Amino acid sequence: MNRIGIIGAGQMGSGIATVCALAGFDVRLVDRDKDQLAAALKRIKESVARRVARGQIDKARGDKALKLVHTGTAFKALADRDLVIEAVTESEPVKRQVLSDLVPHLGKNTLIATNTSTIAITRLAATTDRPDRFIGVHFMNPVPAMRLVEIIRGIATSDSTFNAIRDFTVRLDKEPVRVEDFPAFIVHRILMPMINEAIYVLYEGVGTMESIDKAMRLGANHPMGPLELADFIGLDTCLVVMQALNDGLADSKYRPCPLLVKYVEAGWLGRKTGRGFYDYSGDTPTPTR
Ligand code: NAI
Repeated sequence: MNRIGIIGAGQMGSGIATVCALAGFDVRLVDRDKDQLAAALKRIKESVARRVARGQIDKARGDKALKLVHTGTAFKALADRDLVIEAVTESEPVKRQVLSDLVPHLGKNTLIATNTSTIAITRLAATTDRPDRFIGVHFMNPVPAMRLVEIIRGIATSDSTFNAIRDFTVRLDKEPVRVEDFPAFIVHRILMPMINEAIYVLYEGVGTMESIDKAMRLGANHPMGPLELADFIGLDTCLVVMQALNDGLADSKYRPCPLLVKYVEAGWLGRKTGRGFYDYSGDTPTPTR
């Protein structure tokens, strides 16, 4: 496997392109939006330059990696790829459309992987002509910094597809874990209910924002408190994952906290909007409740 295609040049697609190019893969990054492609190339250059400046890689390797990334807007550029990774917006209708538009352009042996966080791999696989060569490959954000990749098998994914993707992630210097296709996989299945519970603890007045975050930092040795972490991830993302767990597993323990719903309805989505559980407009974040 040497030629990689990536669809979606957002935060994740550009991060995946960076690690692939640094590992020596030939990368074609496709997006429908030229501005996103330009912004992605800028992010990739900055990420590589940071590694060179820190002495993690030499300049020649950085320059070589940058030459391996090509961008475009047409799926036909992906015809000769060994693997195409779909990393477009997290919307099932959008992903289904992208996959059905993509498939006619691909060679019959091309593997397809999706970076979805919440959509069933088996369901997305069924929109293609190759469910046996379809798999989930869930990178963590930011991709260059995070070692873990969850590899999710759909019901029809073949052993050879799984093995090829596992070997690919190892070549990227990542640590793969194998996951069966259940809502939110492993990391979010465990992490998001904890964050949701922290929001219930706030909602019920059991603790203040500061006491909740301090308690989990010092009492459970977590590097960030759950409310700080929720702001970092984005409250909209937290809500989408809780809704996927609630819908997919139909157990009331996954009910999204009404306070989380309110914050998202208000547009208070965390660090990215300047306000979530904390307000980020000043020098230090201040609690909003
Ligand atoms: P993003 O919003 O930063 O980027 C999405 C990109 O997809 C945009 O550049 C957009 O122009 C492009 N796009 C949308 N429709 C398209 C189409 N029809 N054809 C071609 N390009 C199209 O999104 P982000 O955060 O990079 O997420 C991408 C995927 O990765 C989602 O499935 C998300 O769930 C998953 N993911 C996100 C993580 C995160 O922390 N942001 C972490 C792990 C997975």
